[in-house]
Amino acid sequence: MSERHTAVCELKQTDFHEIGNLIDLYFKGKQGCLIQVLHTAQGLYGYLPLELQQYIADKLEMPLSEVSGVVTFYSFFSVHPRGEHTIRVCLGTACYVRGGKKIIDHLIQKLGVQVGGTTADRKYTFEIARCIGACGLAPALMIDDVVYRQMSPSKIDALLANLNKG
Ligand code: FES
Repeated sequence: MSERHTAVCELKQTDFHEIGNLIDLYFKGKQGCLIQVLHTAQGLYGYLPLELQQYIADKLEMPLSEVSGVVTFYSFFSVHPRGEHTIRVCLGTACYVRGGKKIIDHLIQKLGVQVGGTTADRKYTFEIARCIGACGLAPALMIDDVVYRQMSPSKIDALLANLNKG
């Protein structure tokens, strides 16, 4: 069995009582609550594997295809376990022309994962973003909700060293 498959199946249905209770208390019978439920579930479990999507579909009495459709449509939902921190490197035009690719190559080498991946220790998930509003001080990246501007490989090393302390 692949590492990824093992990870996806880590959550068992018996673990889902927390979201089940919240659905019963706050969401049952309410129209248009699916995105809120999925947000809540991702907050609780970190990601939305198929087993959890099925559980939510059953609880909300809707087809799995409807739940999966929403999960795959919105990029902020993840079906794989995520890292403690999310690093998003901007590859919008300004960042691209000012060295965004070099930032990405450095992170691939530093983290040992490709774009879209999560490090084996689950510390970081590494993604690409399209313009994060810091074009004037490109290249930029985000770590969780914080924007870092005028990035360079050495600045990234310092940021990661700081995060690794925590
Ligand atoms: S293009 Fe990167 S912040 Fe705008």
